[in-house]
Amino acid sequence: MPDQDATRWNARYLQDARYATFTAARPFLVEHAVYLPHSGLALDVAMGLGGNAGFLLDCGLQVVGVDISWVALQQAKARLPHLQAVLADLTNFYLPEARFDVILNFYYLQRTLWPQFQRALRPSGLLVIETLTRAMLDSHPDFDPDFLLKPGELRQAFSNWQILVYHEGWVGRDTDHPRAVASLVARLP
Ligand SMILES: C[S@@+](CC[C@H](N)C(=O)[O-])C[C@H]1O[C@@H](n2cnc3c(N)ncnc32)[C@H](O)[C@@H]1O
Repeated sequence: MPDQDATRWNARYLQDARYATFTAARPFLVEHAVYLPHSGLALDVAMGLGGNAGFLLDCGLQVVGVDISWVALQQAKARLPHLQAVLADLTNFYLPEARFDVILNFYYLQRTLWPQFQRALRPSGLLVIETLTRAMLDSHPDFDPDFLLKPGELRQAFSNWQILVYHEGWVGRDTDHPRAVASLVARLP
């Protein structure tokens, strides 16, 4: 499965022009940048082409970006020379303890990472997550529901954190690719 993921994502980044837009930071991150520290170490899991990582670098953070696609990492690193790019399969990856000030997790759902986020953040560390929900099935019945959040699932999973922002709904309705998402900004208690 991870091999297939790598092959699929490498092909997308090489061949599908739509993915070129991944070089922009996600609006949810930009809109809530007020919560970000101005220094420290950030981790961006399933980073993709580094739109969010570049935004964090501009904010003054050091950034480690992990992804299974060497194409994505190569392109991100070419644009962002200060990025620490790590080629790894997150389904077989263990985060170090109390190491990061910020963790980003955008548009990649792997529930087994969630307890690791708690362990890997430093005290008062910030977690920012946005990913697709099962409301996507209305327009994309072919999507695998296991990779889509259930209603309220994200808020429930982080209910013992200090939740700063949480919402579920549609984003990008004015684009060709509207997305049903849950979005969370939370701090380690
Ligand atoms: C939808 S993209 C999201 C990219 C970026 N976070 C964003 O929001 O623009 C999903 C990313 O997850 C990566 N990915 C998929 N499976 C992975 C795995 N097992 N380990 C690490 N990265 C993975 C893909 O290569 C791809 O870059």
